[in-house]
Amino acid sequence: MRVLVTGGAGFIGANFVQQTVVERPGAVVTVLDALTYAGDRSSLGPVADRVRFVQGSITDAELVDGLVADADVVVHFAAESHNDNSLVDPSPFVQTNVVGTFTVLEAVRRHGVRFHHVSTDEVYGDLPLEGEERFTPSTPYNPSSPYSSTKAGSDLLVRAWVRSFGVEATISNCSNNYGPYQHVEKFIPRQVTNLIDGVRPRLYGAGLNVRDWIHVHDHNAAVWAIIDRGRVGETYLIGADGEASNLDVVRALNELFGRDGDDFDHVADRPGHDLRYAIDASKLREELGWVPAFTDFRSGLAATVEWYRENEDWWRPAKAAVEAKYARTGQ
Ligand code: NAD
Ligand code: DAU
Repeated sequence: MRVLVTGGAGFIGANFVQQTVVERPGAVVTVLDALTYAGDRSSLGPVADRVRFVQGSITDAELVDGLVADADVVVHFAAESHNDNSLVDPSPFVQTNVVGTFTVLEAVRRHGVRFHHVSTDEVYGDLPLEGEERFTPSTPYNPSSPYSSTKAGSDLLVRAWVRSFGVEATISNCSNNYGPYQHVEKFIPRQVTNLIDGVRPRLYGAGLNVRDWIHVHDHNAAVWAIIDRGRVGETYLIGADGEASNLDVVRALNELFGRDGDDFDHVADRPGHDLRYAIDASKLREELGWVPAFTDFRSGLAATVEWYRENEDWWRPAKAAVEAKYARTGQ
């Protein structure tokens, strides 16, 4: 199977490529990645020399057309992915997430190639902090940020291309991922690398916001389950019942570093900050038989801390610029 992975030098895409090369020896993988600040070829790690790497943008229609023509399936991870950045400058989010997805969709339409669109639970907006309600595939779209609204726009393009043009596509909407190779701008790697540097963790606002954490390997296993066995035209929600408040996560990280759980700083809140995400993944579990392997969040966190301790060469070059950027917004 010839697999074209967009955004394969980013956090989830690079883990996907590594897992694919190791677990599916028959797969011939091409990565298309623009290598923005968020992309890093070294994230392909030990499989780098077993993958064809093309540096370029998903908005480049000619480049995309040629690569899609040579693929059996396109797995579309490429995106601008960070909410905080989208609040400072939404422009690249519209270009990559909307125009880029449109460009890839037009190519898969021309060449009749199977397409999987990787999206986020943030398209559904947020849930009240109190209560048991969870997102389902029929929850109405209600995105809050420039990031999530451009991801919602990209999902709607995919749905329209399925219905109007018969494109063979599936969509997945996943909750918050953690694991190796996540950029230090994101919540968990930022706190872990702060703690390695002896700096207190930083909590936005009161820290009561809840995220539904899933290990990146479980996300990627679910993506393969959908490509292998999912029904074309369907949307699958991916989540592993990993709800935790940001405060809980910071306390757990402090404890993993042998510190007082409550030794952290409150910093400026994110404008429009979504309160709570929670995924009902029963469709994925029941139809496709997917089950997460990482069911203990604390031990997954401990392994992630270990990975950042052992891979300082990978994250250190980005750290100072990320902290300088956060300093400008009081975070
Ligand atoms: P990331 O920011 O770590 O990686 C994004 C990758 O896309 C980078 O390698 C970057 O260089 C590349 N890229 C950006 N613009 C591009 C362009 N115009 N052309 C080609 N490549 C481009 O993001 P991530 O966290 O790995 O997220 C990957 C996908 O998964 C995104 O679509 C995101 O919306 C989705 N998602 C992420 C999470 C999460 O928790 N991180 C959860 C659910 C869904
Ligand atoms: O739900 C899926 C989404 O999860 C993905 O679509 C996004 O691409 C991904 O970035 C993530 O979005 P979040 O905004 O939830 O992730 P982030 O890591 O930026 O923040 C997680 C929570 O932690 C959020 O409530 C904000 C808070 N936070 C973040 C940082 C960076 C802090 O309290 N302190 C921080 O320093």
